[in-house]
Amino acid sequence: MLKAINEAVSFIREQIKETPETAVILGTGLGKIVDHLSVDCAIDYSTIPHFPVSTVEGHAGRLLSGKLNETRVLVMQGRFHYYEGYSMEEVIFPIRVMKLLGIKTLVVSNAAGGMNPEFEIGDIMVINDHINLMPNPLIGKHATELGERFPDMSQTYDPVLLQKSRDRAKELGITIREGCYVGVTGPTLETPKEYEYLRIIGGDAVGMSTVPEVIAAHQSGIRVFAVSVITDLGVPGKIQKLTHKDVIKAAERTAPKLTSLIIKMVAG
Ligand code: HPA
Repeated sequence: MLKAINEAVSFIREQIKETPETAVILGTGLGKIVDHLSVDCAIDYSTIPHFPVSTVEGHAGRLLSGKLNETRVLVMQGRFHYYEGYSMEEVIFPIRVMKLLGIKTLVVSNAAGGMNPEFEIGDIMVINDHINLMPNPLIGKHATELGERFPDMSQTYDPVLLQKSRDRAKELGITIREGCYVGVTGPTLETPKEYEYLRIIGGDAVGMSTVPEVIAAHQSGIRVFAVSVITDLGVPGKIQKLTHKDVIKAAERTAPKLTSLIIKMVAG
């Protein structure tokens, strides 16, 4: 596995001038941040050795290197979901590559269903904890170079970045929520009882991504900041029939707010 990671890292290093310290994974419908990025290098996933290829509607498959204001960033435009049939090893492969490239901070965004009855569609929820209901991405052979065999998870979401998000949101006049993201495999959305169950166990929002990448990043010592856009509600009385298009539309409506928050966090 390390050999494959190193081959991908060498390939990317040859193409990008300077290695950024911050990486951003763009979630469903949140690609607009790219409009603010001065891109100096775009690499199709399909050209990177051992990199999986993204297939879901609304996700391009490119790694971008460029500047957000004065801050150099690496952007994953499109990610790999477990429900697409990738193994967990494939889902977290880009995070392994990031680590060996020298990334220190990872910013992740996603679309999620809200179970917290105070939430509304379009809310931004900064993730302060998670519950992993997917297979653990670290199951398998362990490479010491990538971190601990039994990683501590008592403070997975970086407290300094959490505080920074509160401060920046306040400066921008953006209301943010905070809460626990439950990671599920999908691809089915939840039944009403499943939403109820996820609320009872402590979840504020549910989605089909992010947790594997966060676990891999945290294991290897990358600081993590993650945020959900609430695209639908899993709240009794507010559950509506939902399509993937609805999710994308709702995420796109919140995109300008989230984009300004993330730019201010990363490059403000
Ligand atoms: N459930 C799971 N994943 C999701 C949802 C949801 O309600 N909304 C967006 N992604």
